[in-house]
Amino acid sequence: MARGGGDPRVEEVRLPAPGPGELRVRIRAAGLCHSDLSMVNGTMPAPFPLVLGHEAAGVVAEAGPGATVPVGTQVVLNWAPACRTCWFCRHDEPWLCAANTAPAVPRGVTAEGEPLHVTLGLGAFAEEVVIPQAAAVPVPADLPPAQAALLGCAVLTGSGAVRNTARVAPGQSVAVLGLGGVGLSVITAARAAGATPILAVDVAEAKRDLALAAGATDFLRSDDTLSREVRARTGGLGVDHAFECVGRSATIRAAWRLARRGGAVTVVGMGAKDDLLTLSALDVFHSARTLRSSVYGSSDPDREVPVLARAVADGALDLTPLVSGTIGLDEAPAALRRLARGEGARWVVTF
Ligand code: APR
Ligand code: ZN
Repeated sequence: MARGGGDPRVEEVRLPAPGPGELRVRIRAAGLCHSDLSMVNGTMPAPFPLVLGHEAAGVVAEAGPGATVPVGTQVVLNWAPACRTCWFCRHDEPWLCAANTAPAVPRGVTAEGEPLHVTLGLGAFAEEVVIPQAAAVPVPADLPPAQAALLGCAVLTGSGAVRNTARVAPGQSVAVLGLGGVGLSVITAARAAGATPILAVDVAEAKRDLALAAGATDFLRSDDTLSREVRARTGGLGVDHAFECVGRSATIRAAWRLARRGGAVTVVGMGAKDDLLTLSALDVFHSARTLRSSVYGSSDPDREVPVLARAVADGALDLTPLVSGTIGLDEAPAALRRLARGEGARWVVTF
């Protein structure tokens, strides 16, 4: 649990019993995402005390009145449950559902009785969560929980950015900046889409092997030589698609420069409110590039998580390289510091 400033701590909390249409889910695995870090360090303002965690899988332990998912079902948590009635949901953009704009919502109390908040309506770094049924996507019981958890954020976000937002076509060239769980998932999906070359970019040399294992054709260091190196591999043009998976204006600008004339830049990373992006107005016109963001992979988790789960079960999607290690809840603060240093792909808390 984060209280603002300093490391998060493990604390006892009290959650309500599941109300109408709600489920109590026993968490089995929860991944550490950069957005958790952004809430701890203030990049993404959030209310405290706050239970972190929004990328998780668990088993339904109790169904509230009217909830229909059977007890014992393995579910992947969805941090953007669609209301199915707002303008965005009715226009096939459930990832922008008007009901999901808050970074955290009140739920339960601390041991001292203070009102508690849970990240993105979930708060998954906990033995249990109480969530609306719409925030639970059933998946097969035999899907390994650590891999199932990643489907709920990094994998869905990365694969959706490639398939739904950018619609990468076979033979197109791709650059991916930032090789955490999200960027590596973009690489995996770009590979599956038949993209080539797939140029993986990071400041951390240690990401090289992870990137190549995920399907990148080249690893490039994010430094002064980057534009030249990318052009050398794309016939002097730049890439068809550049994906920004860091969440900073500097890397959005870098991605912008890597895209070819008429190419597309897809912003997957979530940056800070005061981190302003400056582009030349002439260049925006003349380069004819497209700049757009991909929220939750422009996806409908109810439809796409089961498809990804099946791909994992069939062996078509191998998520084992994404899991750098499983840890206990008490090790999560140290793992968040490792994430901040750019170490590993995904650290997953298991219960
Ligand atoms: N150029 C290239 N890579 C960079 C740079 C840079 N200037 N700065 C940082 N990186 C790399 C880090 O070394 C790290 O490998 O970006 C990667 C970010 O990985 P994670 O911290 O694991 O982040 P992840 O969980 O993948 O999320 C990425 O997507 O959902 C959003 O909020 C999330 O903005 C975050 C982004
Ligand atoms: Zn996330």
